[in-house]
Amino acid sequence: MQIYANNTTGPNAYIITGPTSGIGLATAFEVAKHGTVVLVGRDPEKLRELQKALEQSRRSAVSVVCDLSDLASVRRAAAEIIALDLPIVGLLNNAGIFPMSATKNALGWDNAYATNHIGPFVLTEALIPHLPDGANVVFVASGVEDPERKPAKMAGFRGGRYISAEASARGEWEPGGSKMPGADAYATSKQCTLATALAFARETPRLHFNAVEPGFSPETGLGRDANALLRFLSKYVLSRLAPRIKYWSTPKLAAPVITKVLLNESGETGVYYDEKGQPMLGSVLVRDPRFQDRVVAETRAQLSTVPK
Ligand SMILES: NC(=O)c1ccc[n+]([C@@H]2O[C@H](COP(=O)([O-])OP(=O)(O)OC[C@H]3O[C@@H](n4cnc5c(N)ncnc54)[C@H](OP(=O)(O)O)[C@@H]3O)[C@@H](O)[C@H]2O)c1
Repeated sequence: MQIYANNTTGPNAYIITGPTSGIGLATAFEVAKHGTVVLVGRDPEKLRELQKALEQSRRSAVSVVCDLSDLASVRRAAAEIIALDLPIVGLLNNAGIFPMSATKNALGWDNAYATNHIGPFVLTEALIPHLPDGANVVFVASGVEDPERKPAKMAGFRGGRYISAEASARGEWEPGGSKMPGADAYATSKQCTLATALAFARETPRLHFNAVEPGFSPETGLGRDANALLRFLSKYVLSRLAPRIKYWSTPKLAAPVITKVLLNESGETGVYYDEKGQPMLGSVLVRDPRFQDRVVAETRAQLSTVPK
C-alpha cells in the first residue's frame, strides 16, 4: 500500500524504516528537510498520521507498509519501493525491537533476529541494484553488541552471542550470556547488523554502508515490554537526564547525527559512528572481516532455503 503526500522538498529521496516512533520518527522529520522520505512501517494508521504531520510541515512523503519480521512483506515492500521510481540516494535501516520474551515470526524464527537482522538484510539486498553510485545505506546498530562496552555491561548486557544464523533463528545464543530477558537475542541481532554493514561496505564499494550507535534513549518505545514503573521512569525521568549523561541521548539529539551520516557526501564507507557522530569501534569479534563475511554468507544460505 502506498500513500502519497502532495508537497515536495527536494530532488532526492530517502527511505526510513521504523519512522513511526522514537529515533526513526525524529529522524524522519529531520531527513524530510532534505527531500522526499519513503516511510517504511508496519502500521498503516501510524504511517497515515505521520504522513499527514509531514504534509502539514510542507514536506514530501510516500508510505510503504512493511512488516520487517515477515520475509514476504519485506520482499513486497522492496518491489513497491523500486516501482515508485524515486531518485533514492539513501536508505536508513532504523526499525528494531527489543522483546523481553522470545517470540517467533511466521517461519518460526526468533523475532528479534528476524526483525533486526533478517528484514533489513533482505530489504537492503533487494534495493542495492537499484541505488545509484554513491548512495548511503545506514544501519542503526547498538553498542550492546560489544561485551567489553562499559555502559552496556553495567546495564546487564553480555555482548552479541552469535553461534550461527541457524542457531539465531532458533533463538539460541552462545552460553554464559545475560540474565536480562531478551538481552542476548537483541545484542546478537545488533552484532549481525554491524557485521552486515561492515561486510557490505567491503563487498559493494560503489555504495556507502555505515552504522550508527544512536546512544541510549530511554524515552523511545524500544523498552515497551518493560514493567510499567520502568516505562514511567524511562519516559518522564531518565529521558530528562539523558542529554547530560555520557553515552545517552534522545531522539531529538540522535536525529541530526543520523541524518548527517545518511546525507554524507564524503564517500566514507565501513564507518561505525557513536551518538555524537564520531567514529567508534565495535567489538573485537565484529571488527574481524572473517566474522563479518561468515554472518553474511550464513544469512544468505539461510535465506536461500525460504521459497520466494
Ligand atoms: N532507544 C535506545 O536506547 C537505542 C539504543 C541503541 C540502538 N537503538 C536502535 O534504534 C532503533 C530505533 O529504536 P527506538 O529506540 O527508536 O525504538 P522505538 O521507539 O520502539 O521505534 C522502533 C520502530 O521500529 C518499528 N518496528 C518495530 N518492529 C517492526 C516490524 N516488524 N516491521 C516494521 N517496523 C517495525 C516500530 O514500529 P511501530 O511504531 O509500529 O511499533 C517503530 O517505528 C532500533 O534499531 C534500536 O535497536 C535504540
